[in-house]
Amino acid sequence: MSLITPHGGYLVNQWNQEGFTSKPTDSIELDAMALSDLELIANGAYSPLKGFLNKEDYQSVVDTLRLADGTPWSIPITLPVHAEQASSLNPGDVAELYQGNTVYGVIEIEEIYQPDKEKEAREVYLTTEEAHPGVKKLFNRPDYYVAGEIQMLNQSVREHEDKFYLDPAESRKHFQELGWNKVVGFQTRNPVHRAHEYIQKASLEIVDGLFLNPLVGETKSDDIPSDVRMKSYQVLLEHYYPANRVVLAVFNAAMRYAGPREAIFHAIVRKNFGCSHFIVGRDHAGVGNYYGTYDAQKIFSNYEEDELGITPLFFEHSFYCLSCEAMVSHKTCPHDDDQHVILSGTKVRELLRNGEKPPKTFSRPEVVEVLIDGLKVTQ
Ligand code: ADX
Repeated sequence: MSLITPHGGYLVNQWNQEGFTSKPTDSIELDAMALSDLELIANGAYSPLKGFLNKEDYQSVVDTLRLADGTPWSIPITLPVHAEQASSLNPGDVAELYQGNTVYGVIEIEEIYQPDKEKEAREVYLTTEEAHPGVKKLFNRPDYYVAGEIQMLNQSVREHEDKFYLDPAESRKHFQELGWNKVVGFQTRNPVHRAHEYIQKASLEIVDGLFLNPLVGETKSDDIPSDVRMKSYQVLLEHYYPANRVVLAVFNAAMRYAGPREAIFHAIVRKNFGCSHFIVGRDHAGVGNYYGTYDAQKIFSNYEEDELGITPLFFEHSFYCLSCEAMVSHKTCPHDDDQHVILSGTKVRELLRNGEKPPKTFSRPEVVEVLIDGLKVTQ
């Protein structure tokens, strides 16, 4: 057996110290989301994309959750510029892509187009309300999109230890060295609490290894900062997971909070990292009450099984039951709700920021210690 084939058949590699043959004549500033997207295109995490979407692919993704050639793809990956700059760019030009004083890459401009952002919000986020953090971000970014193949020239600054950065080619090599064929990917933007641990370990029973792949790119301001989370994952793994069954690496993308569409995107990307399975629990990548609890699972039925390749593992809302004295879900526990320990993310963050400890039945004490300490420092 070998690892799963990347999306579109092979891993894209757009790292090229030479750049394009023609000299750059323009420069485009990257925001945090665009810089992380550039890097994830270049290292093959977004295979088969080789650049920022052109108009045909963009419209196709928005309308049909597929690229124009029919390949499943659910989130538009775009490079926005302001109107003034858009009018000075021309197809065929090469532009430097920079942030601060560093040129991170170049783009060979294929097209410049004006998107219908209301429609993008409605179709991708299922709302046009600016109270939705993903929609707010979409509307705040500039109004024109630049399309074209990119080349990456310089790596972005790493905020975590080097060992936690694995390109898809590296994670695949690592899984092979560990002798894993079946690997389950886990996306998170939160500390790993008991419910997460439960669904990870339930999955681990049927595969060879767990790829714990927390998102550390841009998140909304009240999410727990990634440096604190990274410490909490390490202490959790040290105390409660067998070392030879877990690989921890960061996923350097920005969070979109696009719920169902983002679940598909998260699954495709983890397939590129070499995962055969992907966990989708309750309200995956959701925010507020914008999505139904299981909408991010239902959306997978839009595709034939072999089109995505990666197998989603769906989990019900899980929690600790005081009568069962175990982690359960409504599927496995007959007891009344008053026996169930359920805390909202907002409630937990509030407890932690006040230095209060959520119960052991909700989160491991070692994890709680790290979070309380970490949040004191960042306050
Ligand atoms: S996410 O925005 O990155 O999806 P989060 O870190 O909360 O958020 O969730 C990580 C994964 O665990 C998602 O697949 C989510 O659906 C799942 N999940 C989170 N909490 C629970 C829970 N109590 N029961 C079942 N699945 C859960």
